[in-house]
Amino acid sequence: MSTAITYCLKLLTPVSHLPSPNFTMKIFLADAEATLRLGITLGESLSAGSVILLEGDLGAGKTTLVQGIGKGLGITELVVSPTFTLINEYTEGRLPLYHLDLYRLEPPEVAALNLETYWEGIEVIPGIVAIEWAERMPYKPDSYLSINLTYEHEVTRQAEITPFNCAISEAIAST
Ligand SMILES: Nc1ncnc2c1ncn2[C@@H]1O[C@H](COP(=O)(O)OP(=O)(O)OP(=O)(O)O)[C@@H](O)[C@H]1O
Ligand SMILES: [Mg+2]
Repeated sequence: MSTAITYCLKLLTPVSHLPSPNFTMKIFLADAEATLRLGITLGESLSAGSVILLEGDLGAGKTTLVQGIGKGLGITELVVSPTFTLINEYTEGRLPLYHLDLYRLEPPEVAALNLETYWEGIEVIPGIVAIEWAERMPYKPDSYLSINLTYEHEVTRQAEITPFNCAISEAIAST
C-alpha cells in the first residue's frame, strides 16, 4: 500500500477565489484496513483548519477513512456515519473532528448551513473538517484536500488525493 503524510497548510500568499489543484496522488487500498491506515496517517499529521472533501460512490469507504482520521487524532469514541445527523463532532482528540455527510441534501440546502463557520474556525474551535458527499457543496473553501475514492474490486479501492492550495510537506510511498 502507498501512504502519504500530508499537512494541509493554508498558504500565506493570496489565493484566487478558485482554488487550483497542485497534483493528484493515487493510492491503492487493498482492503478496508488499508483505508483505515491511510486515515490514521492523515489524522496524525493534518493541521488545525484542514478541510477534507470526500467524494465516491455509496460504500466507497468515505466513512471508513474518517474513522481512521478519528483514530489518528486519538479519538477513542467510535466515529459513525452522520448520514442522518448531518454532523458529528468529536472533541477528545489532538484536534476536534467535524464529520459531515451531505448525502441527503441539495446544494441550496448545503449553502444554508454556512459550513464556512467550521473551516474559518471563528465560532468553533479550529479542527479537522471531513465532509462526505462534498459534490453537494455549491462552494468550497480556499484550501482543501480532495479525496476521491473509487471501487476497483470488492475490497480494493483507489484513493485520488488532490491538494487545492495546500502544501503537502511530506509524502511517503511504500508497497
Ligand atoms: N478497501 C476498502 N476501503 C474501505 N471500505 C472497504 C474496503 N473494502 C471493503 N470495504 C467495506 O466497504 C464498506 C464501506 O463503507 P463506508 O461506510 O466506509 O462507505 P461510504 O463511502 O462512507 O458510504 P456512504 O456513501 O454510504 O456514506 C464497509 O463495509 C467496508 O468494510
Ligand atoms: Mg459514509
